[in-house]
Amino acid sequence: MITLKNKASISKMEEAGRLLVEIFDNLASIVIPGVSTLEIDSWVAVELKKRELTSKTKGYVGYRHVSCISINDEVVHGVPAAHKIIKTGDLVKVDICASFKGYCADMARSLIVGHSDPALQKMIDVVQQALDKGIDKARAGNRLSDISAAIQQEIERHGFGVVRDFAGHGIGKSMHEEPEVLNFGDPGKGPILRAGMAFALEPMVTMGSYEVYITQDGWTVKTVDKSWAAHVEDTIVVTEGEPKILTRKISAG
Ligand code: MF3
Ligand code: CO
Repeated sequence: MITLKNKASISKMEEAGRLLVEIFDNLASIVIPGVSTLEIDSWVAVELKKRELTSKTKGYVGYRHVSCISINDEVVHGVPAAHKIIKTGDLVKVDICASFKGYCADMARSLIVGHSDPALQKMIDVVQQALDKGIDKARAGNRLSDISAAIQQEIERHGFGVVRDFAGHGIGKSMHEEPEVLNFGDPGKGPILRAGMAFALEPMVTMGSYEVYITQDGWTVKTVDKSWAAHVEDTIVVTEGEPKILTRKISAG
């Protein structure tokens, strides 16, 4: 069942989103050469606490961290570790899901550390544009897979691979709710979207093949061909008008 969120729930999710944006705004000063992903995770924990946000990943089926930090050919769910040290030129994906007064927002961004490689920047721009195209389809009356198809088209139009094994999701009191929101597929399928539905949309793209596997730590997802990957995620709410984006500074609608 896809739950519809009322005004009160949405306003708590909005606050969770607004506070997550604040944290992401300061991330570039922390994700610098020489820092470990475990140190970044500790910083995130402090920032969440300051804002009365509760991590939704810490304790989630045994996951022990408040962020997922994935470097280069790690796609998503990178487990923060003391031995994973950020270096110049790395492509770092940071993903944080937290709740405010019991309501969640889920957000991820891809950052290039130091000097920017144009090919990497292009991939980040494409995944960002694909997310925007998907969000634009999150309108009352559309079908769920209209979002999926829009995301896939934008990614493949630019020659990148769209990862199939992980997907976006409904979100609310829980980090993961129904439905699963695939990042590929034909339009016109699945449930009809209604005002009050909330989704975390999160396309993942690679420079090469879209095949991925889970590493020995049981979480970190890597590309099989070692190509680098980008990932962005926003939490949005379907309204009677423009989709409301909770994890950006200027929300449309
Ligand atoms: N925030 C992630 C998501 O987008 C959570 C992944 S589960 C974790 O769904 F436990 F690895 F954090
Ligand atoms: Co998510």
